[in-house]
Amino acid sequence: EMSPEARRFQERVDADIRIEPREWMPEAYRKTLIRQISQHAHSEIVGMLPEGNWITRAPNLERKAILLAKVQDEAGHGLYLYSAAETLGVSREELTRQLVTGEAKYSSIFNYPTLTWADIGVIGWLVDGAAIMNQIPLQRCSYGPYARAMIRVCKEESFHQRQGYASLMVLAKGSAEQKEMLQDALNRWWWPSLMMFGPPDAESVHSAQSARWKIKLFSNDELRQRFVDQTVPQAEYLGITLPDPDLRWNEERGHYDYGKIDWAEFQAVVAGNGPCNRQRMQSVNSAFYDGAWVREAAAAHATKTAERETQ
Ligand code: ACO
Repeated sequence: EMSPEARRFQERVDADIRIEPREWMPEAYRKTLIRQISQHAHSEIVGMLPEGNWITRAPNLERKAILLAKVQDEAGHGLYLYSAAETLGVSREELTRQLVTGEAKYSSIFNYPTLTWADIGVIGWLVDGAAIMNQIPLQRCSYGPYARAMIRVCKEESFHQRQGYASLMVLAKGSAEQKEMLQDALNRWWWPSLMMFGPPDAESVHSAQSARWKIKLFSNDELRQRFVDQTVPQAEYLGITLPDPDLRWNEERGHYDYGKIDWAEFQAVVAGNGPCNRQRMQSVNSAFYDGAWVREAAAAHATKTAERETQ
């Protein structure tokens, strides 16, 4: 039996009226949003690490400048999202603590290594491509601050996706070695990219409730299918082969069929046992502890400035 407040809340959600920070909301709605928005923020922050690996080794100055700007954008998205989470009553310190201690989840995809330069283009194309597929609908989700944050984030992500694809066009037209490097990167990133959308619908514990609250407008499997459908022609245009022998157009469904995803691999990565989980946590921790003096200095400066102003 729903309380009158809960009923009114659900009616507003059903009528596509945005929920704003100071309005009444069910505690479980608040908790779900804090969980999802903070996981999303952590993903942006940890997502800087695999790409940061290539800033010092980009093939030329132009590529380096682009990569630097892109990694900086990801930092901005993280900060934006932490602010959106803070409107729900959780502190930035608490969210940071959860990330640093390893209590918090972040996207499985960022636990894979970036072995060659082609990985950087493939991340732009596939990883940012998958991220946009999931985030475009979030622009219309029920929680105002999250929906609004997604508008800018999606604009920047689309640019990232395009630049990734453009850099792969160069490799695709290049030497035999460059083409081979591109194919190898695709082979390694394809399946993990499909896992980004989360477990199959039947095993997605939060989906039903999040759909009722219009936090999720499409299911994990729906978005995954859209991503496959969008990506196949792009791969054909590049002249490369997606590493899935079962991939074929299904006339009846009007979609591409694709092979079985290795969910055991996904579970292992989410549980902390992917190829780079430990390395990522170590980087997050050294950034946090090595940067402690900067935070202390900034806080001391802020205190002094405030004292001077009140004198
Ligand atoms: N990597 C790590 N954990 C995942 C992933 C993934 N790819 N997919 C699902 N999970 C986790 C969920 O966080 C949840 O764990 P929890 O209960 O401990 O919080 C669990 O698996 C069950 O999954 P679902 O019930 O499907 O969870 P949910 O309804 O939250 O859906 C999804 C998952 C689709 C990722 C959703 O949270 C979402 O849309 N998040 C916002 C987008 C985002 O975070 N993108 C990050 C990657 S893109 C980028 O940052 C560039």
